[in-house]
Amino acid sequence: MKKLCMVGLGYIGLPTAAMFASRGFDVVGVDINPAVCEAINEGRAHFHEPDLQMLLSAAVSTHRLRAQPEPIEADAYIIAVPTPFREGNKPDMTYVEAATKSIAPHVRAGSLVILESTSPVGSTEAMAATLAAARPDLRFPTLKDNSATIDVHVAHCPERILPGQMLRELVANDRIIGGMTDACSKAAQELYANFVSGRCHFTDARTAEFVKLTENAFRDVNIAFANELSMICDRIGVDVWAAIQLANRHPRVNILQPGAGVGGHCIAVDPWFIVDAAPEESRLIRTAREVNDHKPMHVLNSIRRHADRFKTPVIACYGVTYKPDVDDLRESPALHIVEEIARWENVKILVCDPFIEALPKSLVANKNVRKVDAATALKESDIAVLLVSHGSFRQIEANQFLNKVVVDAAGLLSAPRRVEDAPRSVSRL
Ligand SMILES: NC(=O)c1ccc[n+]([C@@H]2O[C@H](COP(=O)([O-])OP(=O)(O)OC[C@H]3O[C@@H](n4cnc5c(N)ncnc54)[C@H](O)[C@@H]3O)[C@@H](O)[C@H]2O)c1
Repeated sequence: MKKLCMVGLGYIGLPTAAMFASRGFDVVGVDINPAVCEAINEGRAHFHEPDLQMLLSAAVSTHRLRAQPEPIEADAYIIAVPTPFREGNKPDMTYVEAATKSIAPHVRAGSLVILESTSPVGSTEAMAATLAAARPDLRFPTLKDNSATIDVHVAHCPERILPGQMLRELVANDRIIGGMTDACSKAAQELYANFVSGRCHFTDARTAEFVKLTENAFRDVNIAFANELSMICDRIGVDVWAAIQLANRHPRVNILQPGAGVGGHCIAVDPWFIVDAAPEESRLIRTAREVNDHKPMHVLNSIRRHADRFKTPVIACYGVTYKPDVDDLRESPALHIVEEIARWENVKILVCDPFIEALPKSLVANKNVRKVDAATALKESDIAVLLVSHGSFRQIEANQFLNKVVVDAAGLLSAPRRVEDAPRSVSRL
C-alpha cells in the first residue's frame, strides 16, 4: 500500500486526502490546526461539501486516513496550504515555506513532492531549493537540467475544483501537471492516475503556476465586466440582468452575471500574484480587481440611500457566504457589506443564510445583528438586501417581497414577472 502525506486539510486537502484513501492509499493528513485534526480523526468534515462526509467517514473508519500535526515519511507529499496575500497585495508564501520545511526531514530518495497551492510563478523552484538546502544528502531537480539524476521528484499540479462539486470535479477535471523535469511530471501523473479520469496535460512548473493564475484572472476580468455593467446600468436606469440576458442572445457574446463583489480564497486573491510579478504589464488585470473590490461599496451606497428613508430600518440581508450554496466566508463581499451596515447607527440587521449555523465571528459582538430564518427575515424587515443567490433563496416568490424595499445584488428577482408581483422598490445591482 502506498503512503501519502497530505499537508493542509482544508477545502482542497481534505477532499483530496479522502479521495486517495478511497483508492487504497494509506493517507496521513497533516494540519497545524488541532481542531481540524480532531474533527477529521472523529470522522467529521469541518466544512460542508456534498458527499465529503460519507467519503471521510469511510476513510477514517477503515483506518486509511488519519490526521496529525506533524508529517511522516511517505512515498508522496502534497502541499495544499493557504496562499493569501499580505499588505500591498503581495503574495504571502509563509504557509508554503513552513509546510516545505516541515516535510524536509522526512523526504527520502524516491519521494514525490507536489505543490497544489495556487502559487506565484517560481514557487515550485523555490520549494525545491528549500528542500535541497535542508537535505544536502539528496538530489533535487532544477529547471536548468531536465535530464539530471535526481532522488526526489518535485512538481506543481494546481487544483481547479469548484466548491459544491469538489468530489465530482476532483475525478473528472483535466489536470495541469507541471514537473520540474519531465520525469517529475511523469511521477506526478502516475499518482493522480489513481483517481483522475480527466486528461493530464504536461508542462513545466512555471507554466503550470501561470496557467492557474491565468484561469482565475480570466474569471475575475469577466466578472468585473459584468459588475461594471451593473454599476453603469444602476446609474442610467437600465435593468442589468435583462440587458445581459438579451446581449447573450448574440451568438458570440457570453457575459457573466454580476454580484455583490468577488470573494473566496482564489479569484479575489490570485490575480494579484500576476500584478505583483509584472505590474507595468497587468493593467487590465489590476483594474478588474479594483472594479470587483469596489462593487460592495456600490451596493452599500444603494442600501444607505434606501435606509435613510426609514427612522430605524430593519434590514434583512440574504446570504453572507462568498458565493451561492457553500458555507465559505473567506473574502466574502456579502459578509463585508453586512459588517459595514452593522456599524451604522439606528439600524437593525437580520442575517439569513442557510449555510451558516451561527453568526460569523465578525458580527457576534454587534447587538443590532440577529441570525434568523428566511420566514422571520421576510416578516420583520423593511428592506431586503439580496446578496447571495443560494438555491433556497431562488425558491422565494417575488411577491413575498411586496411592500418591501429590495436591493437585489444577486439577481434573485431578475426573472421576468407580472407588474403586480413587483416589490415596492427594487434596486437591481
Ligand atoms: N478552496 C478552493 O476552492 C480552492 C480551489 C483551487 C485552489 N485552491 C488553493 O489551494 C490552496 C489551499 O486552499 P484551501 O481552500 O484548501 O485552504 P484552507 O484554508 O481551507 O486549508 C488550508 C489548511 O492548511 C492548514 N495549514 C496551514 N499551514 C500549514 C502547515 N504549515 N502545515 C500543515 N497545515 C497547514 C490550515 O490549518 C488549513 O486547515 C490555496 O493555495 C488555494 O488558493 C483553493
